[in-house]
Amino acid sequence: MSESETIHLAADLSFLHTDYLWRMPGSWVGYPYYGTSEFYEDIACIAERGVMDMLFFGDTGGTSEDYGGNHHAVVRYGAKWPRHDMTPMIPLMAKAAQGVGFAMTMSTTYHHPFHCARLFNALDHVTRGRIAWNAVTSAYKNEAANYGFDVMMDHDARYERAQEFLEIACALWDSVEPDALVLDREKGIYADPAKVHRVDFRGRHFNVRGPLPALPSPQRRPVIIQAGLSGPGMTLAANFADLQFSTRRTLPSMQQHRQELDAKLAAVGRRPRDIGILWSIRVQVAESEADAREKERRYLASIPPEAGLVEMSAQYGVDFSIATPDMRLSDFADKVAAEKGNLGSFQELLKTVDPKQSLQEFGRRFLVDRILVAAGTPKAIADKLEEMHFATGANGGFILGRGYTAMDNIREFVEFVVPELQRRGRAKTRYAGPTLRENLNS
Ligand SMILES: Cc1cc2nc3c(=O)[nH]c(=O)nc-3n(C[C@H](O)[C@H](O)[C@H](O)COP(=O)(O)O)c2cc1C
Repeated sequence: MSESETIHLAADLSFLHTDYLWRMPGSWVGYPYYGTSEFYEDIACIAERGVMDMLFFGDTGGTSEDYGGNHHAVVRYGAKWPRHDMTPMIPLMAKAAQGVGFAMTMSTTYHHPFHCARLFNALDHVTRGRIAWNAVTSAYKNEAANYGFDVMMDHDARYERAQEFLEIACALWDSVEPDALVLDREKGIYADPAKVHRVDFRGRHFNVRGPLPALPSPQRRPVIIQAGLSGPGMTLAANFADLQFSTRRTLPSMQQHRQELDAKLAAVGRRPRDIGILWSIRVQVAESEADAREKERRYLASIPPEAGLVEMSAQYGVDFSIATPDMRLSDFADKVAAEKGNLGSFQELLKTVDPKQSLQEFGRRFLVDRILVAAGTPKAIADKLEEMHFATGANGGFILGRGYTAMDNIREFVEFVVPELQRRGRAKTRYAGPTLRENLNS
């Protein structure tokens, strides 16, 4: 969706104080992270100072029971747990900081398109046009069980339902024309019925009559994000998305991803510029690469030995607690495929990981380099971002994954790396307009 070559900048706020970070300096034990908005408002203000485009909350409504067959490890360690619904935080953050946009996740597998369309319309109103929807198909077993599924729906069936879900949501957002509101006090006309349309959708999964009983919001529809890596995921993105998140880990793999997406876009009559990609990356600002490595070492030293395998179990729905020292990642490929989970991202790991590495070794690395990493001086980080950006078509930017300290990681990025990118003319120095879509386009 980016018409310019600007490097767009976002940050993932999903796990800023769970995932062993609560043990690191810079995290506060006992602080009411979910009971006050100040922590998140401060981050929004930092992002605004860095003219960042977007802050993102992921969501899965579950407690993983994949490691050892129960929830003990994830609860004991605070690994992707707890998972509060972060939607209420967004309007508070939006009020505290101007310019920056907000992405919220909602599953197409467990929710209803009417509710989703109505909620995101309301969020777009209260943020004054700064909302994005991360439309996910949800690959986690405990979440499936929470929504009444003893067996998780098949991967491709989830995407088929998502296709219908998005079609309906978009139709609902278009069901009231932008100039429908009349407000003619003399004639007593509130709105023009000819500009409000039923949807009359009848499909395999949903029947929705419409219209959406809501005024069109500033962006009309949220910025739509789809992060699928599999074939059906990429097709869904090509049909509906404005933006993709991607966890590709090497430049060739990123380039291949971009090509695949462009081919899918062409097949549905859209252009490469219609979808920008934000590549997931962990950034570690330090005075030197050695200092950055020392921060990583301190983090790894503070986590339990099985942490990586707990994380992988949750991510792929497979019990990695049974792994013996001689086992390799590829030994689990069939199991991951059978669990109908995040197959696309597992395949990416298989492609990019040293096949000789033991699972235990890999598990620990998984916590620190499962996504791209740029660590070192601001100049070195800016060089790397610039290189990857232009080698992949300069069409999107980066989303920062969590670093080792909650707020400091984003603050250091904004204070040291963003000015370097701005000096080079690669990052925005001011917001182009009030809506997220305008800023992503500029
Ligand atoms: C940056 C990023 C954020 C994601 N956030 C979520 C999320 O919040 N909830 C979720 O269920 N899946 C999330 N996913 C997973 C994707 O939606 C998708 O399922 C995954 O990339 C695998 O692709 P596939 O479903 O096409 O196999 C995220 C993926 C990425 C790259």
